[in-house]
Amino acid sequence: MKNLLKVLITLSFIGSSLIASNSIKAMKIPGNVSDIGPTSKAWLSTSYQDVIVYPQTTIKLNDLDANAMNADNSAKKLRVKAITDGKNISFLIKWKDESKSIQEGYSTTSYGDGFAVQFPTSYKDSKKLPYIGMGSVGRSVVVHLQKATGFTYEPNGNNDVYHQVNENNQNAFHEDIQKYRIKVKETAISDYQRVFISEGFRSMTQIKDGSESSKMQMVYKNGYWKGSLSLPLKSSYLNLNKGAFPIAFAIWDGDKKNRDGLKLLSSWIGVKVVGKSGGEKLIDLLNEKSKGDVNNGEKLALENCAACHRYKNVNMAPDFMAPNLSNIGGYSTKEYLMESIVEPSAVVVAGYNRNAHKNFTWYDVDEKGIRTSTMPSYEWLDEKSRNDLVVYLQSLKAEVK
Ligand code: HEC
Repeated sequence: MKNLLKVLITLSFIGSSLIASNSIKAMKIPGNVSDIGPTSKAWLSTSYQDVIVYPQTTIKLNDLDANAMNADNSAKKLRVKAITDGKNISFLIKWKDESKSIQEGYSTTSYGDGFAVQFPTSYKDSKKLPYIGMGSVGRSVVVHLQKATGFTYEPNGNNDVYHQVNENNQNAFHEDIQKYRIKVKETAISDYQRVFISEGFRSMTQIKDGSESSKMQMVYKNGYWKGSLSLPLKSSYLNLNKGAFPIAFAIWDGDKKNRDGLKLLSSWIGVKVVGKSGGEKLIDLLNEKSKGDVNNGEKLALENCAACHRYKNVNMAPDFMAPNLSNIGGYSTKEYLMESIVEPSAVVVAGYNRNAHKNFTWYDVDEKGIRTSTMPSYEWLDEKSRNDLVVYLQSLKAEVK
């Protein structure tokens, strides 16, 4: 009996590791998924797949308190489902969060929990995807963002949050509040919802004309958030109507003062639309691991990179010299890492402090406004050394707690 149990456990373990080929399968279902929320029965038709999100250590805020609260550096597991009706696609994201944090009005001392889903506007060249931290020059992304907000009074009834006032502060509006309360209750949890097009951190532009429409919702229950996003497979910005396409997820924990770049982030992950042909190459590329000697890679990093970058327990460089690479393996593809080494200016990480001392800016700008990374190219390294380095970089990532 004991042995049989052992065999069964082993079998189920092998089974699950085979299924977990690290892509999200979108099941086609009958009906319309354009308008479904996190509690819809439609989700019962498919099962969860794991996605790991890592602290984006490459970005730090100018907020010592927040940085200290997030110093423990642990990753988190999201559980994700996807379904499509052939015209629209919907994602369900579930994650653990001990406490529900709500953004109160427009206070800057309390921060809401939230989540975002990111898509590249083009993935024709799947070796040159946008920078995972909100795109990069010439490689744009569309970001759908939802933050948990409290009930807010909205005099114009148009979901125009800039003209909202917190009802607690505005007793004068009492009568109107009564009138609007029902409406507000309906929309309150989803009023901080935005769609952006972005070519890099701090270049985010809100899409307000409805040409990229989506529906997002988030609900908190029993220590878990569930968020949903529904959007058309094809819009003026995105074409997800393929066998597979890349997606990335981010979550913010308001309790830990997470906001802006201070968040947990996944790598580009392939969504495979079940029953639609093509996309295998993309999925393979997104999952590709470099082959080589991890110990030699570590040695090469110490010799060539540690003067500027901090990572893991290597902290010789000043903190603001270059992105911290402690989780770079968690949210980068192999192709991105290889490109970073041989062609640093192909994607220039903007840095987090726009007033940085000139010794600590991460790029130079020429008279045409073109940014050149201050990192030297390591094209001169032989192929084996480059592969070894990338094997090591891919190993740099936090554990799930
Ligand atoms: C002279 C300082 C310097 C050295 C040496 C250096 N880098 Fe960089 N690196 C930077 C700067 C600055 C950036 C940010 C600008 C950019 O994106 O190129 C960067 C960016 C990166 C990125 C992208 C980070 C992200 O958040 O996406 C990677 C990966 C990287 N470097 C790896 C390396 C590796 C591997 C080495 C050693 C072989 C190395 N770097 C050596 C300064 C340096």
